Amino acid sequence: MSKPSILVARAIFPEVLNQLQQVFDVDHNQDDVVMSPAELHARMKGKVGALTTGSERIDGPLLHACPGLKIVANMAVGYNNFDVDAMTKAGVLATNTPDVLTETTADFGFALLMATARRVTESEHFLRAGKWTKWSYDMFAGAEVHGSTVGIIGMGRIGQGIARRAAHGFGMQVLYHNRSRLSPELELECKSRYVDKTTLLREADHVVLVVPYSAASHHTIGANELAQMKPTATLINIARGGIVDDAALAKALKDRRIAAAGLDVFEGEPQVHPELLTVPNVVLTPHIASATVKTRMAMAQLAADNLMDYLLRGQTRTPINPEVCA
Ligand code: 8YV
Repeated sequence: MSKPSILVARAIFPEVLNQLQQVFDVDHNQDDVVMSPAELHARMKGKVGALTTGSERIDGPLLHACPGLKIVANMAVGYNNFDVDAMTKAGVLATNTPDVLTETTADFGFALLMATARRVTESEHFLRAGKWTKWSYDMFAGAEVHGSTVGIIGMGRIGQGIARRAAHGFGMQVLYHNRSRLSPELELECKSRYVDKTTLLREADHVVLVVPYSAASHHTIGANELAQMKPTATLINIARGGIVDDAALAKALKDRRIAAAGLDVFEGEPQVHPELLTVPNVVLTPHIASATVKTRMAMAQLAADNLMDYLLRGQTRTPINPEVCA
């Protein structure tokens, strides 16, 4: 009997690919060439499943071109690359990779916060450029982290992980803003206080964005919000490009409207707003918040398990639209 055909749209760990090849006829992309939408449509045709990353857009036109498709497993917890409504209408199961990356991503959020507040990359560039000729009292003096106030926008699993690190590890006050309030037990565990967005922006020394991307969260931080922040504040975005208006942020950093920013995600990535590349008070990383070997392996394995469970056994593990199976 012939094996079901799937597409693995980007390069993944060979050991995970190998598991998939045991049970599926796999069209893979171990050369890791980023496909245009037209190339993706062409490669997806005739497949019953696909493993994607955040770079592949699954939308109405693609689903229309691939009537046999049953499941798309995203190797990411965020799934703004999926048109979930269109997938549900087309009867295509969408899955993501929650939980396995929570703590690793929270670690990185905290690393970026510390690097930004304490001006780590800016001072390293200075040293590498041979500019360090003497010590001086205010050289790269940054913002305090311990004992300061962090404001977390988006208090899901990763936001809560950052809150725990901040409150328990660094004695910080934690404010948060979210669509819904946490239970009193969780608020206590995360030592976090729910506030409205304006209060958070006004009172936080460090604002951390961990909110999922949607039309409603587009430009959660723009010129208006930046104007409400403390001039000494730092802004950290580990959520998605588009949550911050990058042009407005570059201007605020240039004008020293806020002190600094740490960004792991960008509007239109892998392109980065050119003005952000010219300002010194920003730490820039290429979307690596979940990038430890162990976590990326767990994400790839979970995406593969989702494909195998559904296509071989009709079961679901981490579905986004479980109603498709009802
Ligand atoms: C992924 C992420 O590495 O999980 C997410 O939502 O942003 C990252 O962990 C990236 O999206 C590639 O799929």
